[in-house]
Amino acid sequence: MPNTCVVGVQWGDEGKGKIVDLLAEDYDFVVRYQGGCNAGHTVVIGDEEFILHLVPSGVLHPGVVCVIGNGVVVDPVVLLEEIEALKKRGLAVGDNLKVSDRAHMVLPYHKMLDAASERKKGDKKIGSTLRGIAPCYADKMARMGIRITDLYSPDSLRERLEENIEEKNRLLSEIYDAEPLNANDIYETYIECAEKLRPFVTDTILLINEAVRAGKSLLFEGAQGSLLDVDFGTYNYITSSNATASGVSTGSGLPPMKLDGVLGVAKAYTTRVGEGPFPTELSDEIGERLRERGREYGATTGRPRRTGWFDAVACRFTTMINGCETIALTKLDVLDMEPNIKICVAYEKDGESFENFPASLEVLSNAKPVYEELPGWQEKTSGTTKFQELPQKAKDYLDFLKKALDTEISFISIGRERNQVIRL
Ligand code: GDP
Ligand code: IMO
Ligand code: MG
Repeated sequence: MPNTCVVGVQWGDEGKGKIVDLLAEDYDFVVRYQGGCNAGHTVVIGDEEFILHLVPSGVLHPGVVCVIGNGVVVDPVVLLEEIEALKKRGLAVGDNLKVSDRAHMVLPYHKMLDAASERKKGDKKIGSTLRGIAPCYADKMARMGIRITDLYSPDSLRERLEENIEEKNRLLSEIYDAEPLNANDIYETYIECAEKLRPFVTDTILLINEAVRAGKSLLFEGAQGSLLDVDFGTYNYITSSNATASGVSTGSGLPPMKLDGVLGVAKAYTTRVGEGPFPTELSDEIGERLRERGREYGATTGRPRRTGWFDAVACRFTTMINGCETIALTKLDVLDMEPNIKICVAYEKDGESFENFPASLEVLSNAKPVYEELPGWQEKTSGTTKFQELPQKAKDYLDFLKKALDTEISFISIGRERNQVIRL
């Protein structure tokens, strides 16, 4: 499909990076449209591992143009470090990377406010990545954000920084009991970034629309997951952007009618990092086993990920809102040795059954999952190259998921490495 969006349909870390890298060779552009360096997208090629935070996962393909769209919140310091680290590893990062002049910038006070707010919330904290994401998007909506383009108008940059920092310092000291910031120091740091970023900064909206007109193909790389989407996720335990395919247009300037398809990415089980409801969470030795076999530790923060069975109630909802006709199922190999595998098909609370994903945090937090149980295949799948070679019980599991979600499955990932995938 010419213009496709790859989107996580769970709580993030579904393996989007691997799938984007896999598809990127058939696309001219790979575009990030939301989120920021809270994302950690892993690509494994041979024994080399790349974890990408802001740079799109198409960067491992030399001919692909990588775009950081206007909907992304960019921490210039982090972006420059990421570019340097990639260059050091021998990757070409130059003309193949474009950064939107309209993207909002994460500033030091966003990170401080993120941390201060989490501290103040105590046991009600969100478990954010502390990358300043929520305060940055809040400023964007409050019309006090500072964009990449502002780096190139130094006088107004200084003025806006001073205005903002005066307000943020009051917040930091009076509400959060934190140290105030110095506007001049921040100005100096960002002006330094401005020059280093200049070669990458451009009008990416025009670039994308010209590409569409020229018949080029674009792959959109969602960050986070649909259940963390600010509108559709488990509010308020969410991130602050539209992680669903709905964010593509506002986050990149692609006209809505020009998106041709959406590929959902789901793990064969579920994980979540940070706080918030997780109906199928396993706090027992099975959960521990999934975490160890799946190496479920955050790619950005290193935190252990919470683990649980596949939640078909949640994924039916997210494949519906994304319009996924097909999905990529990752990490099937992690289930290889399980004797029995459960899939949540409904929730139950106080005698009431929920087959549709409920809005209420109260319901989600107290719902008991209703499971269907399938026998495990207890065979290694990671060396499989063809669907036919999969154990029958693994095929039965995939079949069950397809029916439960009413989608097709077009990729089955059975290992971390780029080549460990079955294409259907
Ligand atoms: P993303 O944020 O959606 O890109 O996913 P992450 O990179 O945060 O987490 C996915 C993790 O699972 C990474 O460590 C990947 O290398 C790994 N991974 C991806 N696909 C598979 C798979 O099929 N099997 C196994 N065992 N690991 C996988
Ligand atoms: P990728 O793109 C998993 C989670 C955080 C926290 C919540 C809010 O790698 O799938 P934030 O820092 O965004 O304000 O945190 O969202 N979160 C992620 N969880 N994968 C991610 O990204 C995430 N990005 C944010 O753990 O619960
Ligand atoms: Mg990740």
